[in-house]
Amino acid sequence: GRPIVYITRSDMPECGVNLLKKECDVKYWPKPSPVPREEFLKEISGAAGIYCSLTDKIDKDILDAAGPSLRVVATISVGYDHIDVQECKKRGIKLGYTPDVLTDATAELTLALLLSTSRRLPEAQHEAQTGGWVSWAPTWMTGPGLAGSTVGIAGFGRIGQAVARRVKAFNTARILYWNRSVRPEAKEIGAVKVNFDELLTESDFVICCAALVPETKEIFNKSAFEKMKKSAIFVNTSRGGTVDQDALIESLKNNTIRAAGLDVTTPEPLPLDSPLFKLKNCVVLPHIGSASIEARDIMSELTAKNILAAIQGTDMPAEIK
Ligand code: GLV
Ligand code: GLV
Repeated sequence: GRPIVYITRSDMPECGVNLLKKECDVKYWPKPSPVPREEFLKEISGAAGIYCSLTDKIDKDILDAAGPSLRVVATISVGYDHIDVQECKKRGIKLGYTPDVLTDATAELTLALLLSTSRRLPEAQHEAQTGGWVSWAPTWMTGPGLAGSTVGIAGFGRIGQAVARRVKAFNTARILYWNRSVRPEAKEIGAVKVNFDELLTESDFVICCAALVPETKEIFNKSAFEKMKKSAIFVNTSRGGTVDQDALIESLKNNTIRAAGLDVTTPEPLPLDSPLFKLKNCVVLPHIGSASIEARDIMSELTAKNILAAIQGTDMPAEIK
């Protein structure tokens, strides 16, 4: 019969799901929410492909539950820290992801969050809505501007570079980056490679665009926040795991740094009683970096194409090697 593909929720954008339906028997968790782990383990037996998202942990137990029929796991994300890549490799299971197609969307959101945090948009809107707007006032709701500033970007891959190109249009004085390897594209962008400490001490805005890997786990810790300028704005649109969140909370409370804008947290969703929600100098978004309509549609198609190619034994358009 036709290969079975399991989709981990019911609300994946239709364009990709429809591509799969032409060639495969599609099974899915029937709700617009992540499949519970127990159901996931039960339902994937015999599947040739798994279409998942970053909310689904793909580990040894999942691969065992799917069994020897499993050929491919494709995630509708560029990050793949939720997948045990080594274990999949060992078993010859192909892996797909969605680089490039979400770079513009994520860079746009990063700039939105950067400006929203520095110019205090949520706080300002709240004041306007609740009677705090008494008159125009010369020193009220002020925050640091990007023009003339130094921006530091941790992680200078596709998204970090796209952020740098956009930030430049704001007449920044300098763009610094920290990355494991030298990025040749930096020259044309005008970004300068520095070590991590320099990035922290020199930057007015520190933006994390680094993939979560063992080397970047909680690199933004107490000592990192202490090295930053007291006036620094920290923005994270990569993964919550790059930050020691308790240290960040303390740094925001004590004004060790000025403010933070977070699209990613630990855990996700962030519990309503998190201190981060009570801090005026913290903007929290619910992991919407790639959430442009265009990006999500094309991510869904690419995920489907990755699965179809792997099942048909042809080159996947975006394989995790
Ligand atoms: C989102 O965080 C992604 O990895 O695509
Ligand atoms: C502010 O609205 C100004 O005109 O400077």
